[in-house]
Amino acid sequence: MDAGQRVAAAQLAAKVGAAPSRLTAMLAAKSPEGLRAAVAPAAVPVAAEPARLRRELAGALGLTEADLAFRDLYPGLDLGIYACSHSMGVPSVAGPAAVAEHLEQVGRHGIGVWDEGAWVLLMDQYRERVAELVGGNLTDGDVTWFPNASEALSAVLEGIEGGTLVYSAGHFTTGHYVHHQWAQNTGGKLVEVPVDEDGSVPTARLIAALTPDVRVLSISHVLFESGWLQDLPALAAALKQRCPDALLLVDAYQTCGSVPIDAAALGDHVAVVAAGHKQLRSGTGAGFLYLPRRWYATLTPKRTGWWNHRAPFAFEKGPVVRAEDGTRFRSGTPTVMAQAMLLGELAALATSANGSLTAAIQRARGVTSRLVQTLLDACAREGLAVRGAWPASQRGAFVCIEVEAGPAINEALAHQGIRVDFRPREGDRGWLRVSGNAAGFPYEMEAVVTAIARERAGRSR
Ligand SMILES: Cc1ncc(COP(=O)(O)O)c(C=O)c1O
Repeated sequence: MDAGQRVAAAQLAAKVGAAPSRLTAMLAAKSPEGLRAAVAPAAVPVAAEPARLRRELAGALGLTEADLAFRDLYPGLDLGIYACSHSMGVPSVAGPAAVAEHLEQVGRHGIGVWDEGAWVLLMDQYRERVAELVGGNLTDGDVTWFPNASEALSAVLEGIEGGTLVYSAGHFTTGHYVHHQWAQNTGGKLVEVPVDEDGSVPTARLIAALTPDVRVLSISHVLFESGWLQDLPALAAALKQRCPDALLLVDAYQTCGSVPIDAAALGDHVAVVAAGHKQLRSGTGAGFLYLPRRWYATLTPKRTGWWNHRAPFAFEKGPVVRAEDGTRFRSGTPTVMAQAMLLGELAALATSANGSLTAAIQRARGVTSRLVQTLLDACAREGLAVRGAWPASQRGAFVCIEVEAGPAINEALAHQGIRVDFRPREGDRGWLRVSGNAAGFPYEMEAVVTAIARERAGRSR
């Protein structure tokens, strides 16, 4: 960094209210006292002023007490204007508290932590809550944890030898890589369905690619470069009819927690993978797979580890003996800390609907659709081009705004404390992605669009 960059970085940190990294301070500590000071709790500075002002203006803004109280659970959202939950969700007070408790338990119980610290229970809670998150249940299906979605996708595909896999060009990069690796490993055939200029993939085009030899239809529920929402019920029905033995593999990373998914109702051929760091706001490590029960008898993963054994604590040697449930896809020691974080965040989310996660996701869809509509209206008013001419009902929780000087505008917004992100198309041309979230408000979306329009106008003068 040169001197100018250091000044800019310092300004940015001040604007967004970023706290210095606790870990950096810990690593720099020279004494036990220094370490103690670094460890002192101050991870997320609470921005009391925006919360107070918002309450004062609640009448004028049409905000209810219930919405305000829910929002107060997310102090990180008030360190500026946060419109980047499609990329990295900001946690509530609950996830970090759950992680802190998890770590305290190791200190308190030592080896007893599996039972006395309730880790075994926590893993079951994870299975139950994740099943509910995707509209499944533990009778029809089961849940396996993974450190990320790529591992979950790979683990499922490893069990499918050859045949044809259909996917769309709009899939996230990791899907492309995993699909190609699968084809290379198994000699399977890939059919890539093209994306239209506006970033959508017509459902009929995907359905037309479903020939009888198809064994997997792998889709991204929302396309990351356009926000286009796939018609899951139509695709599930078409696949069942045309390829009755095929699997629909849904990457729900961009939708989990903000768009209801009804996995059990979609059929026993629908699997869902995702992980927690976007609208679920739970940081890294909380990946998962929901898979209907019938697949556990036939899909044999290529990887293994001691937690893949049907009774890990029996410490049996020799080849692994797997059960026919979600444990079939496990490998080594579970990611308990990440699971605690996601459970904390799901608990926070559920408070927006009286403790029902299912109802909370429906509410989140209503809230984020209204925020997306606000963005569409504001962009139309400011003369900003949005990728795709579709309504909010055909989008996930974000819109892509077309800009010329993307990196510069993105940086200028960050200096103002406004967080969005940029996906390039060609050079500096591309899309600023702007999202709502379940605890967001329309005035925030208005402010983001106004700032983008101002930055764009400033550059075209
Ligand atoms: C649709 C989608 N799938 C997958 C991923 C990432 O997967 P992983 O958990 O393996 O990093 C992302 C982005 O981070 C995504 O947007």
